[in-house]
Amino acid sequence: MTLTSSSDGMPTGGKLLDDPRLNKGTAFTPEERERYGLQGLLPHAVESLDRQAERVMGHLEQKTSDLERYVYLIGLLDRNETLFYRVVMSDPMRFLPIVYDPTVGEACIKFGHIYRRTRGMYVSHDMKGHVAEVLRNWPVKDVRFICVSTGGRILGLGDLGTNGMGIPIGKLQLYTACAAVPPDACLPILLDIGISRADLRADPLYLGLRQVPPSTEELDAFVDEFVQAVQEVFPGCCIHFEDWKGTDAIRLLAKYTDKVLCYNDDIQGTASIILAGLTTALQIKKEKLTEQRILFFGAGSAAIGIGGLISVAMQEKGLSKDDADGQISMFDVDGLLEPSRKDLSPSQAMYAHKAEPAKDLAKAIEALKPTVLIGVSTVGGTFTQPVVEAMCKLNDRPVIFALSNPTEKAECTAEQAYTWSKGKALYAAGVQFPDATVDGKTFHPGQANNFYIFPAIGLATYAARPKRITDQCFIVAAEASADQVSDDLRAKGMLFPSQANILATEIVTATRIAEYMFDKGLATVERPAEIEPWIEAMLYKPHY
Ligand code: NAI
Repeated sequence: MTLTSSSDGMPTGGKLLDDPRLNKGTAFTPEERERYGLQGLLPHAVESLDRQAERVMGHLEQKTSDLERYVYLIGLLDRNETLFYRVVMSDPMRFLPIVYDPTVGEACIKFGHIYRRTRGMYVSHDMKGHVAEVLRNWPVKDVRFICVSTGGRILGLGDLGTNGMGIPIGKLQLYTACAAVPPDACLPILLDIGISRADLRADPLYLGLRQVPPSTEELDAFVDEFVQAVQEVFPGCCIHFEDWKGTDAIRLLAKYTDKVLCYNDDIQGTASIILAGLTTALQIKKEKLTEQRILFFGAGSAAIGIGGLISVAMQEKGLSKDDADGQISMFDVDGLLEPSRKDLSPSQAMYAHKAEPAKDLAKAIEALKPTVLIGVSTVGGTFTQPVVEAMCKLNDRPVIFALSNPTEKAECTAEQAYTWSKGKALYAAGVQFPDATVDGKTFHPGQANNFYIFPAIGLATYAARPKRITDQCFIVAAEASADQVSDDLRAKGMLFPSQANILATEIVTATRIAEYMFDKGLATVERPAEIEPWIEAMLYKPHY
């Protein structure tokens, strides 16, 4: 007799081995092999999860590139989810560059070529009118997070259309790898609206809609249908917008942030990690945020997002909006933003304060006397020695963040910042620079990476099930991150927590965010007596 399902409802035989959520491979016990009709389908040995993980590590060592490791790990996830997370969670910082940035960028570029098997959902523009029906095809009903991208701006790679699916997949894997959010709760979605790049539309192996993206009006109508369908099919699900074209991202976040449970990590998560670094720097300097004068070098979407959250954080500490905005200035490719400039968007104009026009950054620093200089210009080497020295003349410990990436776009390197400031600069970058030694002292520069923030936002949201995620949640996350930077890391110039035990860090941050959600009436579940152990009890553990 052939078994098709067991008395406990489990699939049997090959069906069980083909289900990545249930498959244990060689770890099925002799009793399970008998009960589920697996006898003869597996080799004799019965192995532990640790032994299986040891084999996976061996396979990974044999691979000659991170892209090959990525393809192998995704294949493992398709076969055995528990083993995948056992491996990835054993050392998230080792695997993060493989399952996410930078390898995922290469994987997205080649997505149609390295494609093996479907994962997540593809909701394309030609499904308009019945998106809810399509979402009902997803086999899991209790979906708590959807990470959704159009592929419209993948990392720094521009529009990759459907190839961008690697991003929602990878980002949600980090919810689990860094913060132990149960993977079943997460659904990656690629909203396929077409692709602006003709070369990818012409690639025979391209997997998405071969059309140019629709007008803004059409896109917004489609997104609206999608957002409403999520409310209907997965009530209480958080929509995480990721890597949309900048203008779409800003417009849609503004439209939905007060209406549904959603956030945008590119905008809010990024601003939060920069605020986290700034908060640590100010704790070291023993100064208040409300006393800072902040100059952004670059006035694009990053500057607007970060400036906006810093302004809200200043308002939380007592300043009026006008006073808070008044302490933030910006400088772009055409010089200082000031009222005589006629080319500014409304979101830039609020930082255009009365000042003489200026084209030279060092001179603008002398005039404005900033305490904090934040580089988001996309132009490498622009924080020259005179610029760093101008900051040092005004401040004992100047805060200098050179955030543009990749590496060659950083406004200055860590070594330059520490050398030119004689070790005084409180420095962070958008990339990981190596340690730098100045006058016999070794500095360990920090990388402003969102992975300190969004997995914790995810874990807090999973636990507290809030109605909304507000900007203030991201301010709480930033403060929690800053409070976890140990004294010895601070002494080495590091402005972010250790990466060594990222799960413990995320739990502490998530606890603070959840506390805030309860305090402000955002949470929809009953407040537990103690939040941290309550969250810990919900963590996903990669065990059979
Ligand atoms: P964007 O293209 O929207 O804005 C760039 C801005 O820099 C524009 O205002 C432009 O006028 C200005 N600019 C260009 N050349 C300049 C020059 N020679 N002098 C002065 N200003 C100049 O770019 P976006 O999205 O704002 O990103 C900027 C950079 O920040 C990127 O390299 C991005 O990777 C990086 N970034 C890093 C983050 C992190 O480390 N966590 C977070 C967000 C952005």
